[in-house]
Amino acid sequence: QKIVLAYSGGLDTSIILKWLKETYDAEIIAFTADIGQKEELDGLEEKALNTGASKVYIDDLREEFARDFIYPMFQAGALYEGQYLLGTSIARPLIAKRMVEIARAEGATAIAHGATGKGNDQIRFELTAAALTPEIEVIAPWRLEQFREQFPGRAEMIAYAEKHGIPVTASAAKPYSMDRNLLHISYESGVLEDPWFDASAPENKDMYLLSVDPEDAPDQAEYVELEFEQGNCVAMNGERMIPLQVMEKLNELGGKHGIGRVDMVENRFVGMKSRGVYETPGGAILFSAHRKMESLTMDREVMHLRDSLISRYSSLVYNGFWFAPERLALQALVSESQKNVSGTVRLKLYKGNVIAAGVKSPVSLYNPHIATMEADPTQAYNQGDATGFIRLNALRLRVASGVEQNAAK
Ligand code: ARG
Ligand code: SIN
Repeated sequence: QKIVLAYSGGLDTSIILKWLKETYDAEIIAFTADIGQKEELDGLEEKALNTGASKVYIDDLREEFARDFIYPMFQAGALYEGQYLLGTSIARPLIAKRMVEIARAEGATAIAHGATGKGNDQIRFELTAAALTPEIEVIAPWRLEQFREQFPGRAEMIAYAEKHGIPVTASAAKPYSMDRNLLHISYESGVLEDPWFDASAPENKDMYLLSVDPEDAPDQAEYVELEFEQGNCVAMNGERMIPLQVMEKLNELGGKHGIGRVDMVENRFVGMKSRGVYETPGGAILFSAHRKMESLTMDREVMHLRDSLISRYSSLVYNGFWFAPERLALQALVSESQKNVSGTVRLKLYKGNVIAAGVKSPVSLYNPHIATMEADPTQAYNQGDATGFIRLNALRLRVASGVEQNAAK
């Protein structure tokens, strides 16, 4: 039997690799998607082989991640519960998609992952697998009693690692868990489980890896110009870039100015509330820029219709339904809504803030002649028309109010 394991090189998946191999007497193919987790990838191949993998895939999916996952999601303006830019949620379907492709190519009958039975990630992996490869078996050791009994806590895991010569890295000792990719880093669990714990306090500064504390950001604001074509950012400060480059550059800029930190309690799909801290420096800039571009170029009703679907769309991504027909249907609407979202946005970055500093577009729907309080040479708007417009809109309010007053007599 062959099993493809989603492997990160951390303590959990290292132990799972060894455990699967022993328990199922299987060949373990370790798979790591490079989606921008940087140093976490160093020495990974060797480590996987040393831990017992028969083969290792480390696939650079960064470009696909930016182009086919992050960008379409940002066109939709997705934001979960008003705060979370879905950095982990959007990465899982891509990882799972590649994982089942490898399983097919290798003739593996099962895939395995190290996500907990209490979280969202297991759902995202497995809904994706079901949607793309319905016959595949999924092994989730954390949901198996046998596994949980063997590893009731960190101490047992570390002992097992030492016994099998699996190096325990410094990150295993951090008092919280992290998930890093091109879009964000999330921090959860451990000390963060107490929502009164102040993650912004000076003594917790070194938790954050992508951004400086806004209080430590430069005193000098910095301008950036982003150019959009059909809702996608295609250039920065006049230089054309592919989505991957845009994300990398924006992360750098946003990080330097302390942008994109979020600390929230969110609702997991499995029912519990959970506290998460996020750094999304580039994403926060892109999100804000995109919204400003839309403000100039998007039809009002199209915008309001799309806006009414944002929370639905965001929940679909959060809950793992990326490859579900309803997400694809919504995406088609989003894509149509973005046809005119083109132009340039200028922003000022300053101590954690993204400040509007100008917007222009060759296809702008904003007409200063119509909006002006000065005389309008084009006569496109007749103020007298507003009288009838208001009278008709007021009709039902008058009728209802009249009925109410009569009843009160
Ligand atoms: N709460 C976030 C989400 O559900 C982040 C999850 C982070 N996952 C992890 N394995 N550390 O999308
Ligand atoms: C985890 O799987 O590490 C918990 C985070 C989640 O899946 O929601």
